[in-house]
Amino acid sequence: MNAPHVAEFLTLQEIVAAARANLAPGPWNYRIGGAETETTVRRNRQAFDSIALRPRVLRDVSRIDAGAAFLGRRARLPVLLAPIGGLESFVEGGGAAAARAAAQFGVPLMLSSVCQPGLEQTAAAADTLRCFQLYVRGDDAWVDEHVKRARDHGYSAFCLTVDVAMYSRRERDLVGRFVKPWRATAPAGSTYQSGLSWDQVKRFKDQHDLPLIIKGIATVEDAEIAVQHGVEVVYVSNHGGRQLDHGLGSMTVLPQIVAAIAGRAEIWVDGGFMRGTDVVKAIALGATTVGLGRLACLGLAAAGVPGLVRTLEILEEEIRTCLGLLGVTSLAELTPQYVAAAGPVGLPGALSAFPLLD
Ligand SMILES: Cc1cc2nc3c(=O)[nH]c(=O)nc-3n(C[C@H](O)[C@H](O)[C@H](O)COP(=O)(O)O)c2cc1C
Repeated sequence: MNAPHVAEFLTLQEIVAAARANLAPGPWNYRIGGAETETTVRRNRQAFDSIALRPRVLRDVSRIDAGAAFLGRRARLPVLLAPIGGLESFVEGGGAAAARAAAQFGVPLMLSSVCQPGLEQTAAAADTLRCFQLYVRGDDAWVDEHVKRARDHGYSAFCLTVDVAMYSRRERDLVGRFVKPWRATAPAGSTYQSGLSWDQVKRFKDQHDLPLIIKGIATVEDAEIAVQHGVEVVYVSNHGGRQLDHGLGSMTVLPQIVAAIAGRAEIWVDGGFMRGTDVVKAIALGATTVGLGRLACLGLAAAGVPGLVRTLEILEEEIRTCLGLLGVTSLAELTPQYVAAAGPVGLPGALSAFPLLD
């Protein structure tokens, strides 16, 4: 792996460029790509590009705090490392490496159930704020066993990802014949994710008191049903445009969901977050936590654990700069007054946040 001194990275663009240099075309396309025409991927970015910032001036911003609450605990940024399957096939240490970076920097990790070395060893690797995301590949008892293991190993919340009823057609992977060993096909007679319904959410809430996150909510209607089931966190996500193609950008649907839920659950969001300004826009519009998918992957691919830590440091600098220039000293001061609708100025794409990339 080409791992320059991480302190030499001054911008996120350089980290993305280093990741691209380190990854073979198959793994690169798997990480960056989306479903079919990749319209949802582009809309995620287009939604950010359609929001402008409204700065206030002549306010004392000499002391800025970009810290946030995460499930009642404190995190250094309002940022979560989103669940990523198969990290072990690209990064030495897999999920444990992500956990080490999360702990070293001070943000939470959501571990994917299809990421090695598994929930016990990842918990042992680093003392970080953590929650666990499950892809259902078994019966109720199988789910319950995972909840128990997660609780026993310090995971403070449990997540069901619900936008994978079918595995999408990722054409970059299909064309490249890219094999994903962590992807499972349901054996005959079992349904896995495609058989999930709100009944399982109800059952979870009846059986367990670990906070429940439903990841993959993309409409006001489903956000409302989730809240009626007592879900603690509505995680607005379209899986980074990797599942349903031709969906709306996450940031397009976020304000409607925030308004409808009106504080009855926390609202987290992901999809296309690449920049500090992206994070600030989401917090201004009512999200409490922002998930990083591809950006976290690219930090790890650029230079392992130090690469991801450096990614988070640069992101933090961007967030702090943005807050100061907006005239606020903490995330709590952000409101929708700090944003306005605007026309995008360029064509959106998975990497359009990095215009200096050649
Ligand atoms: C390589 C890769 C693997 C992923 N694996 C999972 C997974 O195992 N479970 C899950 O809930 N989401 C998974 N996701 C989706 C992310 O958690 C997140 O929703 C998405 O990446 C956010 O969009 P972004 O990549 O534009 O930041 C994956 C995303 C990527 C890029």
